[in-house]
Amino acid sequence: MNLLRHVAIIMDGNGRWGLKFKNSRNAGHKAGLKTVEKIIKETINQNINFLTLYAFSTENWKRPKKEINYLFNLLESFLKNKIDNLHKQNIKLKIIGEKKFSNKLNKLLINAEKKTLKNEKLQINLALNYGSKNELLSAFTNMKKKNYKFTEKNLNKFLHTKNLPDPDLLIRTGNTHRLSNFLLWQLAYSEIFFIKKLWPEFNENDYIKIIKKYKNIKRNFGNINE
Ligand code: FPP
Repeated sequence: MNLLRHVAIIMDGNGRWGLKFKNSRNAGHKAGLKTVEKIIKETINQNINFLTLYAFSTENWKRPKKEINYLFNLLESFLKNKIDNLHKQNIKLKIIGEKKFSNKLNKLLINAEKKTLKNEKLQINLALNYGSKNELLSAFTNMKKKNYKFTEKNLNKFLHTKNLPDPDLLIRTGNTHRLSNFLLWQLAYSEIFFIKKLWPEFNENDYIKIIKKYKNIKRNFGNINE
């Protein structure tokens, strides 16, 4: 049975769900946040150490201002209302991506990271203003500046994901089969599950089924199956 230490998720389909059932994309984001909470709970139940959630990409800035503002307001109230609870559950929150938001949101994010820094039950990496191509380019630029040799080990030290194991499992909901500039380097050997359901429809049972399937996959990392 495969060990499962790190799950990464592309939470796709909020907008479509919102339009279909509530006539509003933003209602889909609100419902998507409920799924986030369910999945965090189940990740703890499953004793998984790292959960990386793609919440806002560098490309998402192209969306209408109204939707962007809604998403950030949702995130702000999530942080204000839930951070104590996450802390009590020994959860560490880390932001991956460039913190270039309003002063208020930047502060909330930094404080949430500081408060939960020493927690060790589960680390949640929230990818915000994250783009894998940007991450790789700045890593190489910084390595060159500091005269580091371009090795796999050194590169890992310059990524937002430094000190994290690579994801064992990537789940993308929303019936779309692409990586959308997410962890391109780190996903090199991850098992990938593309799920038809939209993110607000995804639930613990779907998650548990994927985990079961993952655990039984023969992972050979380029070697031969025996
Ligand atoms: C992708 O669906 C989803 C996002 C860009 C935002 C993800 C946000 C949440 C799940 C809720 C907020 C989370 C936190 C942690 C505060 P989409 O809008 O691209 O859906 P579509 O493909 O149907 O348009």
